[in-house]
Amino acid sequence: MPGAIHAEGLVKTFGDVRALDGVDLDVPEGTVLGLLGPNGAGKTTAVRVLTTLLRPDSGRAVVAGVDVLKNPDEVRRSIGLSGQFAAVDEYLTGRENLRMVGQLYQMGARAARARASELLERFSLAEAADRTAKTYSGGMRRRLDLAAALVVRPPVMFMDEPTTGLDPRNRQALWEVIQELVAGGTTLLLTTQYLEEADHLAHDICVIDRGRVIARGTSDQLKARTGGERVEVVVHEREHIAAADEVLRVLGKGETTVQEHTRKVTVPVVGGAKLLAEVIRELDSRGVEIDDIGLRRPTLDDVFISLTGRGTEDGLRGGGGTEDGLRGGGGAEGGGGE
Ligand SMILES: Nc1ncnc2c1ncn2[C@@H]1O[C@H](COP(=O)(O)OP(=O)(O)OP(=O)(O)O)[C@@H](O)[C@H]1O
Ligand SMILES: [Mg+2]
Repeated sequence: MPGAIHAEGLVKTFGDVRALDGVDLDVPEGTVLGLLGPNGAGKTTAVRVLTTLLRPDSGRAVVAGVDVLKNPDEVRRSIGLSGQFAAVDEYLTGRENLRMVGQLYQMGARAARARASELLERFSLAEAADRTAKTYSGGMRRRLDLAAALVVRPPVMFMDEPTTGLDPRNRQALWEVIQELVAGGTTLLLTTQYLEEADHLAHDICVIDRGRVIARGTSDQLKARTGGERVEVVVHEREHIAAADEVLRVLGKGETTVQEHTRKVTVPVVGGAKLLAEVIRELDSRGVEIDDIGLRRPTLDDVFISLTGRGTEDGLRGGGGTEDGLRGGGGAEGGGGE
């Protein structure tokens, strides 16, 4: 399995924190694993161990057929890494940064130049290509860093939250580049807090929380675990949230989720459209005015809530936050607790 990633029983502690608490991972060659989890879950620690930047306390890992602990130098030759924080040379231009990477990896000068131009174009950096990276905005640096990780096409790639801080257009561009890479046979481990992203890009998803794997499977399998579709109601008045909650509790199958600030109440249901009609009638008879109502399939956010009893936003609040508010879905205000 020259392109696969395999890890067993990875443990890494920092003082009292068990950043990795016995993590097993398997990424078959040519597939994408989405490593999903809230802030502090252990995603970056796992990536650092697998890319030889950090020694685990125990466990073993094999990347591209090579033992990570025994032969780290050899592993480094087969992998590409885009870290959570952009690592670009401030004093070089965007183009120079990319060409330098090509040279480091001993690409021919002409090939390096062509690949640099192509990537600058794709990540909307063509206009800024000949300015020093010092003058770039945060999102531009991030894109340059991603482009740098993509100059060579290593058999195994690691990307740590590649789209955090990207605007929707550049996020889309990155998704396309990733899909091309994978179509070309690259194995990818990608960390993300965007459930939608793992859903879109990953063959398999592994959800970690507090250093432990709490679920794995395909997106469909994970969704199936949370039960089928949901009814989602947005009430017009804040005062009506409690009434809507009660109606959904009675007619639904499972716990309701209440998001106070959006006045949204959600519950898993069986019975589809028929049940939806019943919910509408019941809300109407109680004088609850509705802004929006619908049936939807569970999102991975729902999966996370049902697995941990809390939304991913709780993790965000506890752990220092990301720089943007683009995450889809959002967590549950009153969804957990115990
Ligand atoms: N060098 C370090 N020293 C001390 N504690 C660390 C160190 N690196 C990570 N930790 C701790 O280990 C835990 C896991 O951190 P990690 O960076 O792997 O989380 P993450 O899932 O990448 O989170 P985020 O989504 O915020 O990037 C956290 O509690 C963190 O504080
Ligand atoms: Mg991280």
